[in-house]
Amino acid sequence: MSSTIYRFGPFALHPAQRRLLAGGTEIVLQARAFDVLHVLVARQGVLVLKRELLDTVWPGAVVEENNLQVHISQLRKTLGHDAIKTVPGRGYQLALPCASEETAVPAGPPPSPALLYGRDDDLEDCLDLLRNARLVSIVGATGVGKTSLARHVAARLHVSFDGRVTWVDLAHAMTAADVEAALARVEPGCRLLVLDNADQVSNATAQEAERLLAQAPALRLLVTTQVRLNLREESVYRLASLAVPTGGNPAVEALKYGAVALLQARIAARDRHFMLDDGNIGTAIRLCRRLDGLPLALELAAARVPAFGLEGVLRSLDDGLFLLSGGTHAAPPRHRALHSALDWSYGLLRPGEQALYCAMARLPGWFALDQLGSGTAGRTSLFDAVDTLVDRAFVVFDGARPRPYTLTETGRAFALAKRRNGAASLQAS
Ligand SMILES: Nc1ncnc2c1ncn2[C@@H]1O[C@H](COP(=O)(O)OP(=O)(O)OP(=O)(O)O)[C@@H](O)[C@H]1O
Ligand SMILES: [Mg+2]
Repeated sequence: MSSTIYRFGPFALHPAQRRLLAGGTEIVLQARAFDVLHVLVARQGVLVLKRELLDTVWPGAVVEENNLQVHISQLRKTLGHDAIKTVPGRGYQLALPCASEETAVPAGPPPSPALLYGRDDDLEDCLDLLRNARLVSIVGATGVGKTSLARHVAARLHVSFDGRVTWVDLAHAMTAADVEAALARVEPGCRLLVLDNADQVSNATAQEAERLLAQAPALRLLVTTQVRLNLREESVYRLASLAVPTGGNPAVEALKYGAVALLQARIAARDRHFMLDDGNIGTAIRLCRRLDGLPLALELAAARVPAFGLEGVLRSLDDGLFLLSGGTHAAPPRHRALHSALDWSYGLLRPGEQALYCAMARLPGWFALDQLGSGTAGRTSLFDAVDTLVDRAFVVFDGARPRPYTLTETGRAFALAKRRNGAASLQAS
């Protein structure tokens, strides 16, 4: 596997990682500005017509030409005014000398993992598990932060494993052959292999994992997945949502909780004057609770705060999850909207499990299985389905309660929308 790097002036553009560096320093560009730059750089100084740029960067959309001008002037601010030349009436061309090179995909985790909030204990626990077990899977709901945590685990182990750490993203693998092909490029000396996003191919991943562990006695495997592999040697690390304060905390205290810290950081990234204080912390805590402390949901909500305010975003959740849909282009497509992420997870369930989940959504608060009515209770398959739903974090179980089951707030909103759309019915089970 190789990937292209373009070097022009003091800059290096890595299209596969969507990164722009200047002398090793990361430069953050808006997604569209990055795309415009990518097209110009890939032509290496040859004129690119305006129409071509518009069609490539905004495929299928009707976009005013001045949008393009806005991005070009942003790029000039970042790269220097003379970096991009305007050919009047026609288009633009890169004015810096440019060369491309092919590099091997670096072994190990994607570089410099982003800051992780509220995961100090989880990180240490995972490292501990990996010291004692050869196969650790980080299991949890979509968007809870499995991949993010695994990046930090891999980064921490990079040195002790002599850099022989390999990262394989299986998000796009659909078949056992895809998994085999992805693993074929793992080098024999690899000490830590991370298999990220194995959800859709958990059976094939399990088979390959067994084979690899038997073949390479010094190898450790770290897997992130919504569906555990079910192997005997597997140590499962269940990743819970970020901690949310119980309420009534002053801002300085509340900001010590992962969910609130993440919310503050992501809003401030969009609006640098934003600050959680004692005046708005109550609303922020309610929002975190309403979003179950789920990092992906918090990020999507934060992106809407500059336009709708904390209160506005919180209120919008009464009508469903529609506002949680403004994810960045840097995110994988399923993470650009909460309902896409939940759809991905829901798609991993069998029809009977989907139907049961939707039936549970109409029971408010905590419930017992016998409240589900005669349509589902009493079937032996019911227990298997409940087992799966709890295992995959769709349903929360608390044995200390007389009614021990509940759904997360976001999960209930999603399942109710599914019910309304008639996508699942009890008959489907
Ligand atoms: N503790 C955290 N601190 C900061 N950002 C986080 C944290 N956890 C998750 N995120 C952010 O939330 C988003 C979702 O995280 P991530 O991709 O790790 O979830 P995941 O559990 O792997 O989801 P999936 O099951 O869909 O693959 C990402 O944008 C990530 O950067
Ligand atoms: Mg992931």
